[in-house]
Amino acid sequence: MAYLKIPKGWEIPEREATSEAAFLNRRKFLAAMGIGAIGATAILPHPLAAADALYPAKRNPAYKLDRPITDEQFATRYNNFYEFTEQKEGVWKLVDDFKPEPWTIDVSGLVRKPQKLDLDKVLRQIPLEERLYRHRCVEAWSMAVPWTGFPFKALIDLVEPKSEAKYVRLVTFFRPSQAPGQRTLLHYPWPYYEGLTMAEAMNELTFLVTGMYGHAVPKQNGAPIRLVVPWKYGFKSIKSIVAIEFTSEQPRTFWNDAVPSEYHFLANVNPKVPHPRWSQATERVIDTGKIRPTLMYNGYGSYVASLYEKT
Ligand code: MTE
Repeated sequence: MAYLKIPKGWEIPEREATSEAAFLNRRKFLAAMGIGAIGATAILPHPLAAADALYPAKRNPAYKLDRPITDEQFATRYNNFYEFTEQKEGVWKLVDDFKPEPWTIDVSGLVRKPQKLDLDKVLRQIPLEERLYRHRCVEAWSMAVPWTGFPFKALIDLVEPKSEAKYVRLVTFFRPSQAPGQRTLLHYPWPYYEGLTMAEAMNELTFLVTGMYGHAVPKQNGAPIRLVVPWKYGFKSIKSIVAIEFTSEQPRTFWNDAVPSEYHFLANVNPKVPHPRWSQATERVIDTGKIRPTLMYNGYGSYVASLYEKT
C-alpha cells in the first residue's frame, strides 16, 4: 500500500510519554477547557445496552489491580481512536455522528457456524462481568479500568472454529461520513484491523468489552464492542468491531502496515525492549502523572507467559 506520508501520530509520545511536565501542562489545558471537573452526566454511554439494565455487572474478584482505578474523566477523554482524530484530547468531542446501534458482527472464515451476530442478541445470551485490568499504551502511558464484558472465548465457542483456524482477524467499521479521521487521515490503511493467535484469543484474559465504569462503553472508548488484551500494548485492543475472521495464516495488522519498523504482530508489553524512539521501561499514569515501572506482560505473566515459551 502506498502512503502519502509517514504517519505522525505516534511521534508525539516521546515528548509526552515520560514527561511529567507535559502531563501537568495538559492538566492545566483540561482545566482551561473546563473539563477537568465535569460531572458524570457529561459522559454519554451509547444507549444500546444501558436500556436493558445490563450495567453495572457483577465484578469478577479474580482480576485484581496493584494500583488505583483511573479517574473516569481521564479514561474517557484521553483516547486513541484515529478514526476520529489523532488528538487524544479531542476524540470524545468528535464522536457525535457515530451511530453504534443497531450493531452486527460478521463472523466468517474457518468456522463451522459462520454468522452475522446481532450484538443485542449476544448480550442477552452471554452473561457480562466486570474486570479490573491495567491498560498500557505503546506510547508509555497507562491506566487501570473497570471494564464490563465477556471472554472472547464465549463468542468463539458460538461459531465453532475448525482445527485449521490458527489466527483471528478483527476489523473496525469504515464509515467516513461518521468518523472524520477516516475522511482526512488518508495515509492510514482504513479500516483498522488487528489479529491474535487462536491461543491468545482463547486465553481467559482476552475480553470483549461492552461497558466500562458500570455503564455501556462510550463511543470514544470503542462502543458498542471492543477487544481488551491487557498483556499487549493498547493498539492490539481494537475498538468498535464489525468483523471477525478465522484464518490459517497470520493476518496483517493496521499499525504494522502503517509503520512496520515500530509496531509488530505480537506487541506484548515488555519493559526491556524499547520502542525505536523511546524507552518502554516506565509508564505515565494518565490521571495522576505518576511514573511507574512497566511490568513484563503488563503484570499478566502468570496467565500468558507460557504462550510464548519456546518448546
Ligand atoms: N481501535 C481502533 N479502531 N482505532 C484506534 O485508533 N487505537 C488503539 C486501541 N484501539 C485504536 C483502537 C490504541 S493505540 C489504544 S492505546 C487503545 O485503543 C486506546 O483505548 P482507549 O481510548 O479506550 O484508552
